[in-house]
Amino acid sequence: MSKYVLGIDIGTSSLKGILVDQNGKVITDSAAPYKVYTPYKGYSEQNPEDWYLATESVFDDFCKRVDDFADNLEGIAFSGQMHSLVLLDENMDVVRNAILWNDTRSTKQCDKLMKYYGEELLFITKNKALEGFTLPKIMWVQENEPELWSKVRHILLPKDYVRFRLTGTLGIDLSDASGTLLLDLESNTWSKNITSNYNIPIDYLPNLLKSQQYVGKLKGSISKKYKFLNKIDVFAGGADNACAALGAGVLSNDTGLCSIGTSGVILGIDQYKKTIADGKIHHFYHTIPSTIYSMGVTLAAGSALSWYKNLMTPTSSFDELLNASKRIAIGAAGLLFSPYIDGERTPYSDSKIRGSFIGIDRHHSLPHFTRAVVEGITYSLKDCLELIEKERDSAFKEIVSIGGGARSDYWLQMQADIFNKEIVCLEEEQGPAMGAAMLAAIGLNWYLSYEQIIRDWVKIKRRFVPISENVAEYQEIYSKYQKVYKASKTVMS
Ligand code: XUL
Repeated sequence: MSKYVLGIDIGTSSLKGILVDQNGKVITDSAAPYKVYTPYKGYSEQNPEDWYLATESVFDDFCKRVDDFADNLEGIAFSGQMHSLVLLDENMDVVRNAILWNDTRSTKQCDKLMKYYGEELLFITKNKALEGFTLPKIMWVQENEPELWSKVRHILLPKDYVRFRLTGTLGIDLSDASGTLLLDLESNTWSKNITSNYNIPIDYLPNLLKSQQYVGKLKGSISKKYKFLNKIDVFAGGADNACAALGAGVLSNDTGLCSIGTSGVILGIDQYKKTIADGKIHHFYHTIPSTIYSMGVTLAAGSALSWYKNLMTPTSSFDELLNASKRIAIGAAGLLFSPYIDGERTPYSDSKIRGSFIGIDRHHSLPHFTRAVVEGITYSLKDCLELIEKERDSAFKEIVSIGGGARSDYWLQMQADIFNKEIVCLEEEQGPAMGAAMLAAIGLNWYLSYEQIIRDWVKIKRRFVPISENVAEYQEIYSKYQKVYKASKTVMS
């Protein structure tokens, strides 16, 4: 009889749970959607209670569908959207809706931070101030909602809030802490310099944990409700992109990750550097101890495609949409799309820029537009890839592709051709939830090393090799795409 771990990913559009046995076999998965509130341009919020209700709904679903779930579950770990701010009062009640990673209201606060700290911020945190990160969001609340701020006693990130609700203990792992702009990435402690400057008492911040660290048992009341036989061990978990990299087996400098979820990410393992050039790409702590990764983020990747689909063909599926655009030749007959519909992070940290279709011709059909959207998202990720390779001064040999971009051979081949890299897709692709499940398995000592669990649990399904004629064609169009940002900026400002 097998034992199970549960990996829970608190995503932006839904919470996903996967149940994995000791051999790395995914028994089943379950997802529960929730709302994102966008009351004003640039605002993006969620109700933390919805994450908890979604967790219960995943538990309910597994109890119904998996006969031995309650008997054989041994451990739980988490992955979650990075940077998003959750504020609790002294009674551990949520003070306001969470302000999410893709909320761009805090440009003024970022400017202030950069004006005050400049390069020192890069030196301490290895990142520059961006609207997506947690500290500018805290400053926004301090400045705009002082009454609410006066009630705040605890600052958390989404996965840490859900874990708190399940165990009653507070904590944050280093991979998520490094995305707050409050962590000193050299000493891996909360920066006294930054917290004191912005009047954030250090005891508002949770204890720092390792991703595989045991944090406590699942609350008795919850165990009773779901009739769990064992006392369930709960482990810290990590930032979604770091968990995605772990779940995809990204361990060496040679292998990159391309993950297309709501955002799009290119990520590579990096060396710790004392000095960071310009902060164009992010540098965070991994879920694997003593490991740093660098990353570029397209704010709207999957979400640009979802936006487009809901607007143009709400009744068709993503498969139908993509299949129809396959017959359109590379370059969508001159139609270019830039995916900056929520502003952009990498390579242009610009919360004001907006997306565009350029080169519309009366002969263009809907599939041309679809092709342009998919190509535009992929060009934006190529921007991230080029920056990372330049800064690390080393090229990736291959890229593991996960998420929306890995669900179609057509998009995988497009990635191979646009990135001019071998693209690998996986047998069992479960995104960040897989990394979370692995952290629980490591926490339970089912595996003693990351290398071992990756060897056993991550299996390559197929490789997509760049086709040289396509590479050349895309390269020519990409150089046109690279001019779009500057031109749009001129027109839009
Ligand atoms: C990374 C980022 C996003 C979120 C998505 O810096 O902001 O990729 O982690 O959940």
